[in-house]
Amino acid sequence: MSMIIAPSMLSADFGRLDQQVDMINRSEADWFHLDIMDGLFVPNISYGFPVIDAIAKNAKKPMDAHLMIVDPDRYLEKFAELGVEYLSVHYEACTHLHRSLQKIKALGMKAGVALNPHTPVENLVDILPDADFVLIMSVNPGYGGQNFIENTLVKVEKLKRMIQERSLETLIEVDGGVNISNAALLAQKGTDILVAGNSVFSAADTLKAISELKRV
Ligand code: DX5
Ligand code: ZN
Repeated sequence: MSMIIAPSMLSADFGRLDQQVDMINRSEADWFHLDIMDGLFVPNISYGFPVIDAIAKNAKKPMDAHLMIVDPDRYLEKFAELGVEYLSVHYEACTHLHRSLQKIKALGMKAGVALNPHTPVENLVDILPDADFVLIMSVNPGYGGQNFIENTLVKVEKLKRMIQERSLETLIEVDGGVNISNAALLAQKGTDILVAGNSVFSAADTLKAISELKRV
């Protein structure tokens, strides 16, 4: 399977959102990655439902929403109504993670578990069969444009082994500081989905930057 590329709209120019969405539609990217931050789970506030709705109206590719919010259970229906297909909640934000994942799936979405850099992948041993994908944060969540944390490579490798040993089909998504210099190694360790914000939207040629990531 070729790498799934999910540009993070956090780094898009919101002053010309329709054009940015069109550009991703025309690109070789596979998904729209939407970073939802509440100023509590993470220090930053990003954007909410009206912006997601505006993206959804023009997006011709699946939306992958990454909830960096406390008590995400309150909003799962809303994300389903907006047409989100992949929804991840943080391991650190869910007291009843199993229930949250079952609810996401019952709403017709693929369910993901996101892990902060300090959370060991081994903590997923009992929940792994219930997750369609795992999002490994390779920066501390909250901001785009941060530097990639190298230990992520070890986490991806360990998680891939856990998935293969149990013959699961869980996908591995890596999010934060992803660029053309670390993408090949991430692919080699077993990453299935690369999220990239700054490295694609700040590139002189965004379409080319996406194509290059797609080909690692
Ligand atoms: C960080 C977000 C990421 C981020 C990726 O909290 O979850 O999706 O925006 O952006 P870059 O690629 O710029 O690190
Ligand atoms: Zn994200």
